[in-house]
Amino acid sequence: MAGIYFHIPFCKQACSYCDFYFTTHQNEKEKLLRCMDEEIVNRLPAFHFNEIKSIYFGGGTPSVLSYLEIQQLISKATSTVALMPDAEITLEANPDNLSMEFLTALKTKTLVNRLSIGMQSFHASELELMYRAHNVAESIQAFKNAREVGFENISLDLIYGVPGSTLTSWKANVQRAIDLNPEHLSAYCLTIEDNTRLKYWIEKGRHIYPEESLILEQSELLMEMTQSAGYEHYEISNFAKPNQYAKHNTNYWKGEPYLGIGPSAHSFKGNERSWNISNTKEYILRTGQNKVTFETETLSKIDRFNEFIMIHLRTQWGLHTNKIEELFGPDYLDAFIQQVEKIDKTLLQNNGDLYTLTKQGKHQADGIASSLFLVTSP
Ligand SMILES: C[S@@+](CC[C@H](N)C(=O)[O-])C[C@H]1O[C@@H](n2cnc3c(N)ncnc32)[C@H](O)[C@@H]1O
Ligand code: SF4
Repeated sequence: MAGIYFHIPFCKQACSYCDFYFTTHQNEKEKLLRCMDEEIVNRLPAFHFNEIKSIYFGGGTPSVLSYLEIQQLISKATSTVALMPDAEITLEANPDNLSMEFLTALKTKTLVNRLSIGMQSFHASELELMYRAHNVAESIQAFKNAREVGFENISLDLIYGVPGSTLTSWKANVQRAIDLNPEHLSAYCLTIEDNTRLKYWIEKGRHIYPEESLILEQSELLMEMTQSAGYEHYEISNFAKPNQYAKHNTNYWKGEPYLGIGPSAHSFKGNERSWNISNTKEYILRTGQNKVTFETETLSKIDRFNEFIMIHLRTQWGLHTNKIEELFGPDYLDAFIQQVEKIDKTLLQNNGDLYTLTKQGKHQADGIASSLFLVTSP
């Protein structure tokens, strides 16, 4: 099964914590979209997709595009490779773009059938700290508008571990998200990235990053509240109502191929990974000169094994020893078994040939994965 990712690198303003690739200047939008059309035509055939299972518009802020611009990209891709009848087409959207007018056009004139709305918080003070371009009332109205025009598959993004947050303030955030009854929730622990205003403020002592113990409590509370509300914790940062897993992201986690179009977009096929240049001007320039816009890396067997461990460990479907043997052979399986037996059973549990993280282990997923990584061939 195959997926297509479109990176739309435009944002109204720079959120204080974000280091994704984006620009706040939209003057080259038309040119960029034509270059993305060209990239689809140039690269899609080489991926040999039979059908497209999912399309994902990520960013940046894809909801700054018009419905026509969104549908034009979908049409370009689907005129080359057919779309599966139940394909998932997601648009990441910021609440301040979700007017009734835009949503109605999106629902009736494009094939977008899933929205991922960046709420982040239901507290005005946190939205201000994060320098988001929307207020709480706009976020709630955006969700209601999306429901009213008929979107039946909506995901909300939240962030915990925000400076100044408490267990009580986080509980209110999760409760307000659950009260809206979205099909899916993504909750990310705030990462303090280099070259962000938030990092500068923290270094200057203007804001204090929460204690590790509070972050753990917030994460536990999130797990408890979402479980009681009927969500499955199917990946470290993702929660879904039954059968409402994000198909596009699940494809990433299952190692399915995908093509990423646009500045900074990543692609994956077999044992090859590529990534586009993270610079809109340069992307446009190179496309105009018929030069490649991406770099490619061939993954070694060890790279693929380590990635397999990392990705699968983070999901509720876990790590199957028979799959490890099938994909990597008995030597890799032996090396895995040797390492996995050293891990505390309170962190990683096994049931026959299946290893999954315990509730406690979910807080240490990255550390557990790296202790299972191989450095040299077994
Ligand atoms: C890059 S954004 C793109 C979607 C959209 N522009 C938005 O802001 O919701 C995707 C998600 O990543 C989250 N994100 C970005 N930087 C982050 C950070 N440093 N720590 C945690 N989450 C982050 C955003 O808040 C958002 O929910
Ligand atoms: S969090 Fe979203 S809206 Fe904010 S700067 Fe990053 S991509 Fe843009």
